[in-house]
Amino acid sequence: MLKGKNILLGITGGIASYKVLDLCSRLNKEGAILKIIMTTSACEFVRPLSFETMGKCRVFTDLFEGSHESVHHIDLPKWADVFLIAPASANTIGKMANGIADNFLLSSYLACDKDVIIAPSMNTNMLNNQATVKNIKTLLEYGVKVIEPEPGLLACNTVGDGRMEEPEKIVSYLDDYFTEKDLMGKKIIISAGPTVEPIDYVRYITNKSSGKMGYNIAREAKKRGAEVVLVSGPVKPMEIDGIKRIEVRTNSEMKDVIERYFDNSDALIMSAAPVDYKVENPSDRKIKKTGNSLKLNLIENDDIIKYFASKKTKQLIIGFAAETDDLIENAKTKLKNKNLDYIVANDLTKWGAGFDVDTNIASIVSKDKVRKLEIMPKEELANEILSLLR
Ligand SMILES: Cc1cc2nc3c(=O)[nH]c(=O)nc-3n(C[C@H](O)[C@H](O)[C@H](O)COP(=O)(O)O)c2cc1C
Repeated sequence: MLKGKNILLGITGGIASYKVLDLCSRLNKEGAILKIIMTTSACEFVRPLSFETMGKCRVFTDLFEGSHESVHHIDLPKWADVFLIAPASANTIGKMANGIADNFLLSSYLACDKDVIIAPSMNTNMLNNQATVKNIKTLLEYGVKVIEPEPGLLACNTVGDGRMEEPEKIVSYLDDYFTEKDLMGKKIIISAGPTVEPIDYVRYITNKSSGKMGYNIAREAKKRGAEVVLVSGPVKPMEIDGIKRIEVRTNSEMKDVIERYFDNSDALIMSAAPVDYKVENPSDRKIKKTGNSLKLNLIENDDIIKYFASKKTKQLIIGFAAETDDLIENAKTKLKNKNLDYIVANDLTKWGAGFDVDTNIASIVSKDKVRKLEIMPKEELANEILSLLR
């Protein structure tokens, strides 16, 4: 979402300015275009050259440098899609709240008619000082957005509020800011990961699903304004800030949880890979080795997606088909037999597709159409899938 976005980055004289080198690098990787303004104090902490290098852009420091072609403090805000000030010092926040424009950054702020986002960073006492509290409140009233500082160990060797939010989180904030909230009001159930079926007290059957696809869909859906319930089988920890996640293990647990939310939902996206078979009589004790072979009788599990598709009213039902043979044919059969609206089909034998990788090569199959997509990050595929819900 940050690709091609013009971000005017203001840097003030806070110790956290060194972290902004990482922020510049991350924003560049996301495809954002930067222009940077540094205050004189900021230049005491990190040299403009470092930001020029990491930001791959020009760094402005001198208000009076102007040229006959451009009055920079007027033209830079015009160019920007957003003005981010990180770190925002107590001093700059105070001046912003009081309309003071005695440097390049502050003059640009006053001339800016785009959204302004600040990431304050300072010692806890400075942050809690009545003047700073009042100044931040004033800026909020003026419509400035604030990325709240975090509690933690500060450079002044105290622990408390005032640490600038981590660069990774600032990038997510911006990503979220630029994402159109086109799924606002939609309630979506997303399942992710594998399920497990016990053999005995310690052993189980599962599959290679990593849950990455489902978690990506959940994250993107939330960004686009949807109310998400993520029903997750056991997967490696993955970040999903602010999303309701319910952890399950077996097929029947997954089905039961989905059942709780289904009637009140607008869509079910079954990106989980529930185990197709379960052991007929799992042992509640550990099965001892006997020197002989062990025979397990496997019986078919309930088909979760088929069950919910059979009782859908308003819900859009999207399934996945991960196949090694006859991909599209199998997907079409599955779509019809299970009464689904869409199937996202991916060929497990292709490099860059399937389980535990960050990309996928998928075709979106509906009743009368097959849309073949190029190899793309799972995050991008997540957005393609979510656009089916608009
Ligand atoms: C070592 C050191 C660290 C500082 N760290 C911060 C800080 O994290 N936050 C802050 O608001 N001020 C901090 N200051 C004070 C500011 O640099 C000072 O208020 C300055 O006037 C800010 O100018 P500016 O807002 O124009 O960048 C620090 C000063 C020093 C000497």
